[in-house]
Amino acid sequence: MGEEKGGIATRTTLAITMKFFIRTFGCQMNQADSACLSGRLIEAGHQNTEDPEEAQVIIFNTCSVRQHAEERLFQNLNALRPLKKKRPELIIGLIGCIPALRRETLFRSFPHLNFLAGPENLDTVPDLISRSKNGAQIAVFDSKLPPHLTSPTRGKESCGVVSPARGEEGGVNVSAFLPIITGCDNFCSYCVVPFTRGREKSRPTGEILEEAERMVANGVKEIILLGQNVNSYQETANKNKGIGFPELLSRIAGLSGILRLGFMTSHPKDVSPKLFKVIAAHSNIYRHLHLPLQSGSDSILKAMHRGYTAAHYRQRIKEVREIIPGLALTSDIIVGFPGETEDDFKKTLSVIAETKFDDLFAFKYSDRPKTKAEELGGKIPEKTKEDRLARLWKLQDGISLKKNLETKGKTFEVLLLTESRKRPGFLLGKAENEKKILVPGNAKLVGSLIQVQVTSVDRRLLYGVALEQTA
Ligand code: SAH
Ligand code: SF4
Ligand code: F3S
Repeated sequence: MGEEKGGIATRTTLAITMKFFIRTFGCQMNQADSACLSGRLIEAGHQNTEDPEEAQVIIFNTCSVRQHAEERLFQNLNALRPLKKKRPELIIGLIGCIPALRRETLFRSFPHLNFLAGPENLDTVPDLISRSKNGAQIAVFDSKLPPHLTSPTRGKESCGVVSPARGEEGGVNVSAFLPIITGCDNFCSYCVVPFTRGREKSRPTGEILEEAERMVANGVKEIILLGQNVNSYQETANKNKGIGFPELLSRIAGLSGILRLGFMTSHPKDVSPKLFKVIAAHSNIYRHLHLPLQSGSDSILKAMHRGYTAAHYRQRIKEVREIIPGLALTSDIIVGFPGETEDDFKKTLSVIAETKFDDLFAFKYSDRPKTKAEELGGKIPEKTKEDRLARLWKLQDGISLKKNLETKGKTFEVLLLTESRKRPGFLLGKAENEKKILVPGNAKLVGSLIQVQVTSVDRRLLYGVALEQTA
């Protein structure tokens, strides 16, 4: 056992082919990392399997953003104990945010684990697998660019590409995540991400453009740019003429063959009309902004170290709605942050009622190790947090349904992304505002743009019929 610095040689070919299974928890960045790792392992001669029972290597890519995410992972990890007992040669690895946060204790709590690697060390995983074969326990953590952000020549379509749209015939990946910046320098007082993913690191613009082009050449139609705070993107290779996020977005949108371009996540203190104008100017950029508010109370926003006020947030919303007609707006909210009074919470509800978000991601505050908020007094009882969350959803469910009902009878240009898993014979697509829409249709249409008229809606989804194919 023991931690190593990341300088170990990475072998690209391994003597023995092994079947590996990767399960991904957490955010889109983790999904992009898993897709990249999977590609690297296949390159190294291993085989992917969807069945953990037949896997010789099981890897969990983990999330530690809330305690619940960690608990779920630990349950899954405990469930592997009988399998490891039956097959002691089974290699089990944890990668991603939990090992980065809890490196000291994991081997002790889970002796059936073989290797640990932080999000910035995924390039060492092929080597870690190889060295785990004799039952060793090895951990690698080092702060540097993760694999998909390092190699200008990585050239593999497997990196960054996820495959929700893997067609039955042909195996086309219609949608891809493209990380442009990793890490975070914001240190919001509740958040572990700066501790798990390290400091902000932007990829060189040229590399991002090349990768986007490669994705398109491989059949990708929708690219989602990823970063904890995409607005912090700054080309560093060429500081004087540094390219910021609006310029980068504009350049990518201008590449031919990209039918749809999205991005997440934006920070309210950093978005500006310059960005909104770029979105408005390109018809292939989704008319959707995900702009996490977190709280509508200025004193809570201050305690969260968010760097803006509710008035600032409202002003940005006003601007973006003026500049981009038909925009869908979504947000993240935390209820029950330490010290949050009923009055603070009501302020959050009033921003929600007034802004009328299309949808929200709302969470009960969860204490996280290493964060400033963990040390704060005024912790809110679980019952109060639950009550506030329920009240929030009561308000938002009504708004979301009403917003969706407004689309009834309207026609959208929809990119068809995948076959519906739940409804055979239906395809799942996204409208220009990135709202999800179900349309009856043949799998051969996946990847095409069609005109769809909305016939019915519920709180989460639009349902429609195809009028004609446009691309
Ligand atoms: N970079 C993004 C999102 C990061 S994590 C941003 O700045 O908004 C995604 C969401 O998880 C956050 O927006 C926040 O709402 C939530 N979250 C993060 N830490 C949390 C915690 N300790 N407890 C509850 N929710 C949390
Ligand atoms: Fe976490 Fe704040 Fe960074 Fe988002 S901006 S990842 S919430 S520290
Ligand atoms: Fe979770 Fe790490 Fe993403 S903590 S939300 S997997 S950056």
